[in-house]
Amino acid sequence: MPSEPTKVALARQPLGIVGTALTARRNLLELIPEIATRQPIVSGKTGVRFHMVMDPATLRHILKDRVEDYPKSNVTKLILEPAIGDSLFVAEGAQWRWQRRAVAPAFALRHVQALGPIMTAAAQASSRRLAAARSPVDLFEETVAATFEVISDVTLSGDRAFDRDAVHYAIDGYIAQTAKVSLLDVMGLPGWIPRPGRMFSRPGLNRMKQIADRAIDSRAANPKADGVPDLLDLLLDAADPETGRTMTRDELRDNLLTFIVAGHETTALTLAWALYLCAFDPNVQDAAAAEAGGVLGDQAALATDLPRLPLIQRIVNEALRLYPPAAFLSRTAQVADRLCGRDVLPGDTVMLPIYALHRHHLLWDRPDTFDPDRFLTMPDRYAYLPFGAGPRICIGASFALHEAVIILATLLARFRFTAIPGRDPQPRMILTLRPHGGVWLNVAPR
Ligand code: HEM
Repeated sequence: MPSEPTKVALARQPLGIVGTALTARRNLLELIPEIATRQPIVSGKTGVRFHMVMDPATLRHILKDRVEDYPKSNVTKLILEPAIGDSLFVAEGAQWRWQRRAVAPAFALRHVQALGPIMTAAAQASSRRLAAARSPVDLFEETVAATFEVISDVTLSGDRAFDRDAVHYAIDGYIAQTAKVSLLDVMGLPGWIPRPGRMFSRPGLNRMKQIADRAIDSRAANPKADGVPDLLDLLLDAADPETGRTMTRDELRDNLLTFIVAGHETTALTLAWALYLCAFDPNVQDAAAAEAGGVLGDQAALATDLPRLPLIQRIVNEALRLYPPAAFLSRTAQVADRLCGRDVLPGDTVMLPIYALHRHHLLWDRPDTFDPDRFLTMPDRYAYLPFGAGPRICIGASFALHEAVIILATLLARFRFTAIPGRDPQPRMILTLRPHGGVWLNVAPR
């Protein structure tokens, strides 16, 4: 067994403009110089001036203390505005603040726990599919199916007119297209370098918006009479606690779409990488299966089981460290500043290469090794940022962690996952950090 799980070959020498362009098309993470895993900051100029920051105290400065001076980068907005421009993911300033206040209660722990049965049902359904599948199985495809089931149930459930396959199709189209948007512009590369198919197709986008609009209309007309409120109910009820303001129709729709898109692929990636890591290290997998089996018996995991599944939680944390789905965040500096002794000018791009931060030699012991037990002690808050930090931290973090632990524990208790030599996935970042080639594993009942 190799001693380290699959990783990206980081750049060992400067790439130049054309090299940067070619690399960005293949895998954005290969733009990160290897030295970024050893130094607190790396600055350069490819068209715009940029700074990659890997120093926890400076990350706190950018994400928390001076958040107003470092809004999300222009490119993030360029990519996402046509799809979810009126959502809290994209908004800034006062427009962001009131939406965040209004939506926050929907993601409070008690609401997330109340949605547990939907996550448990998805874990059951996933087990059924795996029991019937012929090995080997692409576990990324399977975990996408499972997490899509959860997010569509909590956002669009109860809508009889809602055709789940149609939504899945429209959203997959959206993700495939946006994934093609390379972040060449983050690097400020000249316009003569051809951009791969920009933006997602209009028809796909319109279809998605129509489906979300229909779900909102039908729920507003027929409120759910019974049961636990889902995310759509909570969004319809969302009001700014300070002003009482509620969401416009466009805001409702764009937030609903944000939850669906931001919430399903990222969690599927976490699960797929976690299963890959368990197959990579059978000893860890056996210990996790014993923990899960002891707690669950032959039942699927419930939200209330979480405190009794500490190793499964550590495996999820470690998967998010080694393969953070949002592996690269970026901001645009608004004012002159100094970061780690470097001058920053208004307009400079400030990159937060979470992938390099999580594998930094000054912050982690044997950073490229899979060792869930490193999370027996909590890392420095700003050395571990799978969900970002500060006021714009992922609003769905606790939702995602509940879902990942419930599904992972259920699958590990029931199946043994075995690696296939020569078929390791390659981590590739286009929009999120994906396992290129899929996560193909042999699956057998325990
Ligand atoms: C493992 C799964 C997930 C990961 C790794 C993840 C990661 C992130 C990160 C890193 C950010 C901050 C981006 C930045 O600062 O530039 C973010 C923001 C956000 N995420 Fe997640 N996310 C996950 C799951 C979810 C889920 C399940 C939902 C909703 C159902 C969600 C909804 C959002 C929203 C709405 C924001 C914007 C928050 C704001 O700007 O106030 N995410 N996510």
